[in-house]
Amino acid sequence: MTTDTPQFGALAGSMRDFRYLPGADLLARVDAFYQWQETRRAAGVWPLGRSTEQGAFSRCTARTDEGELFDGVNFASQDYLSLNSHDGVLETAIATMRAFGVHSAGSPALVGNTSLSIALERKIGDFLGYDHVALFPTGWAAGFGVIKGLVRPNDHIVMDALSHACLQEGAQAATRNIHLFRHNQVEAARAKLAKIRSTDTENGILLVTESLFSMDSDTPDIRALQALAHEYGATLVVDVAHDLGNLGPTGRGFIEAQGMLGKVDVVMGSFSKTFASNGGFVAARGRGVKEYMRYYSSPNTFSNAMSPANAAIVGKAFDIVASEEGAVLRRKLMDNILMLRSLLQGCGLEVYGDPSAIVCVKMGSEALARLVSRRLPSLGMLANLVEFPAVPKGQARFRLQVMARHSQHDIIDAVHRLSTAVADATDDMNALETGAATIETLERDRPVVRRTVVEPEAPCARARRGGGRGSLAA
Ligand SMILES: Cc1ncc(COP(=O)(O)O)c(C=O)c1O
Repeated sequence: MTTDTPQFGALAGSMRDFRYLPGADLLARVDAFYQWQETRRAAGVWPLGRSTEQGAFSRCTARTDEGELFDGVNFASQDYLSLNSHDGVLETAIATMRAFGVHSAGSPALVGNTSLSIALERKIGDFLGYDHVALFPTGWAAGFGVIKGLVRPNDHIVMDALSHACLQEGAQAATRNIHLFRHNQVEAARAKLAKIRSTDTENGILLVTESLFSMDSDTPDIRALQALAHEYGATLVVDVAHDLGNLGPTGRGFIEAQGMLGKVDVVMGSFSKTFASNGGFVAARGRGVKEYMRYYSSPNTFSNAMSPANAAIVGKAFDIVASEEGAVLRRKLMDNILMLRSLLQGCGLEVYGDPSAIVCVKMGSEALARLVSRRLPSLGMLANLVEFPAVPKGQARFRLQVMARHSQHDIIDAVHRLSTAVADATDDMNALETGAATIETLERDRPVVRRTVVEPEAPCARARRGGGRGSLAA
């Protein structure tokens, strides 16, 4: 390792510290990251890279990346309407595989499409009010591909600063003219557009946002952004990955709630949250955009099309979303969301944003958040820790993802287990700060991960204790 190689203890450092590593040996230099990961693993604070043993269900057995098994209530899977276990979806998948085989065996630009994916394009277009839709192998590919496909080096991108990695990376691949505006601030976007147009009236501008931001659970004023785009001769693209299908009376999410159905220039989405599958789409008006995407958006042109089973699953999921059953599932989901938010707040835990299937629970310091994550497996809970750089430094949080099939019992358990973990971790933090413990002695005394699911109790079994730098006070 060189003197510049970053080194951090288990409760310090972030992923960002290892993005640019010193040294000419591309393979050897990544060891610095691995050493940090191992330090965190040894302290029991590496909560990433987990797997479920039987699938993403509301209660499941999971395995840490060190191989430890634990049973838990699962708030870490993004199957918002619980269609992963829907009988009709499963039957559709099996029947399709029998009829079509399991492979699309080609790019959409060649012969990768099937009658199922063509039908799915039409179904999504009808649902959203667009005449043309292009499918992509993942939502990530759709986000990256819509930007890289449309924007050229002389064009500009004006993008919400918190936009998803697929949009940011698509932008970086397309042009150096990237202008980030402050999250959800329409006037900040206006200032960027005005500045660009004061010197450049020749080139294109893509204005980029999301309908529901997945770390903050908030939504922009889509109507105002669309009007702004037109005022400055720009094109708006909205990523609807997290709300499409699961929010709003008809499942059309915030673009419908804001009266913008069919009125946004370009809509891009993912099937991986609500539609029980891999895949994504770009919807626009006019066949020309779709045809251009097919031949100039690399993930559409040079990547295999969605499999026939994926296309059929998503088609079936759209049918459910559009049905009375979909409305019932959405109401159940919203009841769960409201119950979870209210119980968490009742236990003194702060949640971000507006009610949606993403319930982010404020932790603050990364150190405290990691200590909480260390407690969760033994308490029987699966939840995703989100840290810098996915969110700003000092704003670590747990991202709980709610599903329609979570029972009230699951929700009470989750709140009880998370609040217990926070109380225990606050004690741990205090012990570290006063020198009564070290990360090594804490780990030596770490509760054994057990595989018996603890019975539900009142949501906040222990009042949270204040004090210490890791306190959750806002
Ligand atoms: C806002 C947003 N857009 C796009 C994606 C990518 O979707 P997929 O998982 O289908 O690749 C995600 C998923 O993380 C997302 O949160």
